[in-house]
Amino acid sequence: MTLLLLFISYAIVLSAALARAGHRSQTAPSSGTPRHRPSRVLIVGATGGTGRQLVTQALERGYSVTALVRDPSRLQIDHPELTVIQGNVLDEGSLDVAMRGQEAVLSALGHKRFFYPARILSEGTRNILRAMETHDVSRLVCVTSLGIGDSAGRMGLFYTLFIIPVILPFYFWDKTRQERAVAGSNVEWVIVRPGALTNGAKRGRYRHGRNVGSFLLTARISRADVADFMLNQIASDMYLRAAPGVGW
Ligand SMILES: NC(=O)c1ccc[n+]([C@@H]2O[C@H](COP(=O)([O-])OP(=O)(O)OC[C@H]3O[C@@H](n4cnc5c(N)ncnc54)[C@H](OP(=O)(O)O)[C@@H]3O)[C@@H](O)[C@H]2O)c1
Repeated sequence: MTLLLLFISYAIVLSAALARAGHRSQTAPSSGTPRHRPSRVLIVGATGGTGRQLVTQALERGYSVTALVRDPSRLQIDHPELTVIQGNVLDEGSLDVAMRGQEAVLSALGHKRFFYPARILSEGTRNILRAMETHDVSRLVCVTSLGIGDSAGRMGLFYTLFIIPVILPFYFWDKTRQERAVAGSNVEWVIVRPGALTNGAKRGRYRHGRNVGSFLLTARISRADVADFMLNQIASDMYLRAAPGVGW
């Protein structure tokens, strides 16, 4: 019983710390006035579940896409408007090459090294931001997660009391650092916080904004719908410098 109480206290303290440390929205979303639509986009994390959706859907929408990948054989998408650059977000040289000539960056960076305090998300994102400033690339749309900053607790009870404190504390801590790096930058940024991801089909209908998610049930959304929402943010100012949640 004492152990259970100690554990619940730890989960609540961690949730409160993620709430304090992550980005907190200070400005209301703007009206969503359409802006200049960039045509060249860099996708980071392109071989992942969400990244692959981003590449496919961006090509369908007519973008000229550059994918930064560690292993090109994992992408397996062939298209005349797709350029694949082998690189790593922790290697500033490869980011420099990939960033040249881009107009926007979409990041679906993630990893599975959950059980030690990695800084891949935050360091990698700082490198992306530096390369963007060097090459005058203005817009970044970056995935983090519900459960951070003013969305703490909104992944639902199972994540708040078990998945995040037991499996993902280091990962979520790095995501809060990642959010802080993005929010502290001078680029035009949109942080996208999805609920638990599925490999389901694109519905094209989902909820977005500050109130997405539930303190009780696990909020979910497909990677395909997250990609759809992220691509919509390239040419919209609706959530400029804000961190909307997305979920069904
Ligand atoms: N799973 C969930 O339920 C859930 C919920 C909310 C938010 N999220 C977040 O949503 C994002 C996307 O999730 P996902 O499951 O679609 O991602 P994923 O399949 O894990 O893909 C992550 C991508 O990041 C790339 N990557 C990792 N380290 C890299 C490095 N050093 N340099 C360049 N690329 C690197 C991976 O490349 P390789 O193919 O080479 O490994 C892969 O393409 C992640 O940030 C995840 O944490 C996930």
